[in-house]
Amino acid sequence: SPARIGVTGLAVMGRNLARNFARHGYRVAVHNRTQARTTALLEEFGHEGEFVAAGTTEEFVAALERPRLIVIMVKAGAPTDAVIDELVPLLDEGDVVADGGNAHFLDTRRREAALRERGLHFVGSGISGGEQGALEGPSIMPGGTPEAYRVLGPLLEDIAAKVDGKPCCTHVGPDGAGHFVKMVHNGIEYADMQLIAEAYDLLRHGAGLQPDAIAEVFRTWNAGRLESYLIEITAEVLARTDAATGKPFVDVVLDQAEQKGTGRWTVQSALELGVPVSGIAEAVFARSLSGSVPLRQAGRGLPGPTETWLDSAAADRFADDVEQALYASKMVAYAQGFNQIQAGSAEYSWQIDPGEMATIWRGGCIIRARFLDRIRAAYEADRERPTLLTDAHFREALGSAQSAWRRVVSVAAQLGVPAPGFATALAYYDGLRAERLPAALVQGQRDFFGAHTYRRVDRDGTFHTRWEVEGRPEEQR
Ligand code: 6PG
Repeated sequence: SPARIGVTGLAVMGRNLARNFARHGYRVAVHNRTQARTTALLEEFGHEGEFVAAGTTEEFVAALERPRLIVIMVKAGAPTDAVIDELVPLLDEGDVVADGGNAHFLDTRRREAALRERGLHFVGSGISGGEQGALEGPSIMPGGTPEAYRVLGPLLEDIAAKVDGKPCCTHVGPDGAGHFVKMVHNGIEYADMQLIAEAYDLLRHGAGLQPDAIAEVFRTWNAGRLESYLIEITAEVLARTDAATGKPFVDVVLDQAEQKGTGRWTVQSALELGVPVSGIAEAVFARSLSGSVPLRQAGRGLPGPTETWLDSAAADRFADDVEQALYASKMVAYAQGFNQIQAGSAEYSWQIDPGEMATIWRGGCIIRARFLDRIRAAYEADRERPTLLTDAHFREALGSAQSAWRRVVSVAAQLGVPAPGFATALAYYDGLRAERLPAALVQGQRDFFGAHTYRRVDRDGTFHTRWEVEGRPEEQR
């Protein structure tokens, strides 16, 4: 009998997604460019459900029930286009092609438009949760037409993670909306990881704790409001001893963070949209700095502070301060990311419901956290809120974190421990709070050197000052 759904691209994510469908009782057609992977999947996991192995794209398409549901799980970019080009001539009107990779949302918009022309549905779908998520329940962010979601959505909801009985999958919006939201998810993931890494660095190089002790601190935090997948795995990474050397694992890893592009895309898009996502940007730049070998070699001997450790009394109190600073900075980073989702949604007329995004991120994905339920509640109370930070819960938490947050940023500066994530979050926060910003002076400078004009606080209109003439009133343009 025909298969209910097909998965092409059987690297670890595709393979586990296919197994997830099969474990939920769907008959799954599986295909991979090189057949060895398909054979291996059936040999190892064939007993988990009903698989139909397809050797060629033609066999794959022929194995599917109509309308056909196909999930592409190959590398983003040219490989995805190549698979689409091979599939399209073999498909019929109403068939649904989903891309579960980390595609750029503009590529997804292009592909969706091209397939729509041919009467096909294209669903650009973010899938988060890594290997384990794909197998046991990821968070899924599908974008495309409502008709496409009507046929494909129920299967995706079935295999997605569940929180309070709700699937971590919803129809995000048209065309590129799903991949846009996945991109911002990854940007937030970068920011969160950077903040956690800074917390570790401060505890280690400010308070003088060893990795196993810091692992214990993270375990404690994970029992409280910071409870999240990323904090949990951080404790595990820090507690690990390298088998070959007996040293802490974290000390034998080269300190150059890599990146595949989604964080950079988030910042590029934010620059286009004019949304300040400084937390995500600092996280991307921190990875770039870590990998800039000649720059770091050149910088190693530069002068630093004379005082480089906290005294022992201060060190004892420090972990609590860092917890507060981490929670506050995390709020800022997430608030910024959600603002980007709202801005992207407005720019592309996607009608994305930010609260729904927080809802489907509560489980399955890399940034899953207790905290996201707070964000869901904040948007439920006011969907159009300009920033999450004014929500009653966040406002109160920011209030009580104030002194600790500021102490941590100053300790970092005093001891010379780089904490760009904490510092930028605090600067953003103070920027939002400010009655007046020095942007007024920037406007004056612009008008002085380029007659770029300015607006006034006391009158409508656009003004230019004739700077060479003393005391002359401004001229309206
Ligand atoms: C997820 C992750 C995943 C991504 C990595 C890698 O949501 O499951 O975001 O999609 O592959 O996090 O990102 P970098 O290699 O750029 O760190």
